[in-house]
Amino acid sequence: MNAHEKNALLIAVLAIAASDIWTNNAVAQSNNPAPFTQAQADAGRQSYLTNCASCHNEDLSGKGAPALAGKAFIKSNFGQATVAELYGFIQKSMPYGDSDSLATESYLSIVAFILEANGANPGDQSLTPAASVRVSEIATGDMPAGFLSGAKSK
Ligand code: HEC
Repeated sequence: MNAHEKNALLIAVLAIAASDIWTNNAVAQSNNPAPFTQAQADAGRQSYLTNCASCHNEDLSGKGAPALAGKAFIKSNFGQATVAELYGFIQKSMPYGDSDSLATESYLSIVAFILEANGANPGDQSLTPAASVRVSEIATGDMPAGFLSGAKSK
């Protein structure tokens, strides 16, 4: 094939790749399944709305208190921290002014929800307070499409 044909082929291949990325964007934010289940993240949604959203906003964008989702969150110390450390911080200091007031299961599910909001993919392993993976290894800060409406988990 000549150079023109090669270019045309290349453009066609790139166009297909781009449309694949577009449609798969909501599914594959990062490759590794994170150490939490979809059921935990779903339970965490309700706990988050009840216990955290008043200060961190329903879309996790922050409201007086810092944002808990997005590139800046993943670039912060929390991105470098392990999931266990994030869990530990939240359990020891949140809800602000009423720390350590929730059940372990609620804190775990809220952490799962926050991780999913940052693009981590649920797997078949339940989250425990000892999860040693770094937040930035499983979460990109890109919120999956449809996440806030709950569309992703249905
Ligand atoms: C009454 C308001 C309030 C509630 C409710 C609340 N927070 Fe916070 N949160 C804050 C404030 C204020 C800060 C900043 C504290 C600081 O910088 O010392 C914060 C900080 C954080 C941080 C650190 C973020 C960062 O980038 O520094 C995390 C994580 C967090 N909160 C999670 C939660 C979770 C999870 C819940 C629900 C269980 C929750 N918070 C409930 C007010 C709140």
